Amino acid sequence: MKAIVYTGYGSPAVLQFKEVAKPTPKDNEVLVKIYAVSANAADLHLLRADPFLIRLSSGLLKPKNEILGSDIAGRVEAIGNNVQEFKLGDEVFGDISAGGWGGFAEYVCAREDALVLKPVKLSFEEAAAVPMAAVTALQGLRSKGQIQPGQQVLINGASGGVGLFAVQIAKAFGAEVTAVCSTRNLDIVRSIGADHVIDYTREDFTQNGHRYDLILAANGYHSISDYRQVLTPRGTYVMTGGAMAQLSEVMLKGPWISMTGSQKMGNLLARPNKQDLAFIKELLEAGKVRPVIDRCYPLSEVADAMRYLEEGHAQGKVVITVAQNN
Ligand SMILES: NC(=O)c1ccc[n+]([C@@H]2O[C@H](COP(=O)([O-])OP(=O)(O)OC[C@H]3O[C@@H](n4cnc5c(N)ncnc54)[C@H](OP(=O)(O)O)[C@@H]3O)[C@@H](O)[C@H]2O)c1
Repeated sequence: MKAIVYTGYGSPAVLQFKEVAKPTPKDNEVLVKIYAVSANAADLHLLRADPFLIRLSSGLLKPKNEILGSDIAGRVEAIGNNVQEFKLGDEVFGDISAGGWGGFAEYVCAREDALVLKPVKLSFEEAAAVPMAAVTALQGLRSKGQIQPGQQVLINGASGGVGLFAVQIAKAFGAEVTAVCSTRNLDIVRSIGADHVIDYTREDFTQNGHRYDLILAANGYHSISDYRQVLTPRGTYVMTGGAMAQLSEVMLKGPWISMTGSQKMGNLLARPNKQDLAFIKELLEAGKVRPVIDRCYPLSEVADAMRYLEEGHAQGKVVITVAQNN
């Protein structure tokens, strides 16, 4: 089968499009013929081994898993002896990062517990756009943020992969949502349901006097004290992404602020979770959430997809079409 392989850490230039052996499923795995896979910031972190400490888990000198790609959508082509939930031909999607990655390929073996049946109405590209970004948004808002109906919620970095899901999920929970993005993304965040939009190139939301019950920073660059002053007295701030300096600041100061005051502030390290993905599937089927795809690339051009993602201005998700679904 064809796959995108990397044998050493580096820039997207180290990614090679080559022929590798087609895998065989273990007893608790299914073999998935991949139709689409999306690219995530996590692929970039593993590609570059950035931050450096990532090597403790991904391989000190070279990557343990030579094929990146976590968010797959495809069709079950073979099943292991102990697989209960899926049968041949099932259309599935999921985040396979906990089971060894391998999505930038024509086939992958995935654990049963990483996959959910694909919503029928979604294309494979749309389904592949969902898992990691939407589950991160859900865990940030619901698990960590304890979102409640009627709350004032602000999403910073609302126009990226995580942010566009966060806006829609917060709306589905009945919150009043303010989305922060740049001028060119105002229309898209309005179209997916944001009640208010703030153009960060013209207005600094930390200085306008509004306060929010819950702030999710999907990608937004402010200090913890900036965020603190726009939180309500019992408000919660969850940071999922942004610059390393700000992530470290929240990691260091967040627990202390949360312990000593009534505001809660902290980072989220999202984990793949089948129940969370099944919950998002219900939102997709109910039409409360829809994936937004910025660009699609063929498998041979994953390096270009990663370069584009690395620029940091994707409008929604970057997806790789691996096979045409006729
Ligand atoms: N904690 C976790 O478990 C977890 C899981 C998934 C992702 N993440 C992290 O979450 C972050 C976001 O991921 P993503 O997939 O959403 O990334 P992404 O799709 O690459 O985000 C790009 C978006 O960020 C916006 N943006 C850039 N600078 C901004 C700023 N100063 N203010 C507001 N918006 C800004 C861009 O809009 P403009 O073009 O308008 O600037 C663009 O639409 C990444 O850092 C990623 O590593 C963390």
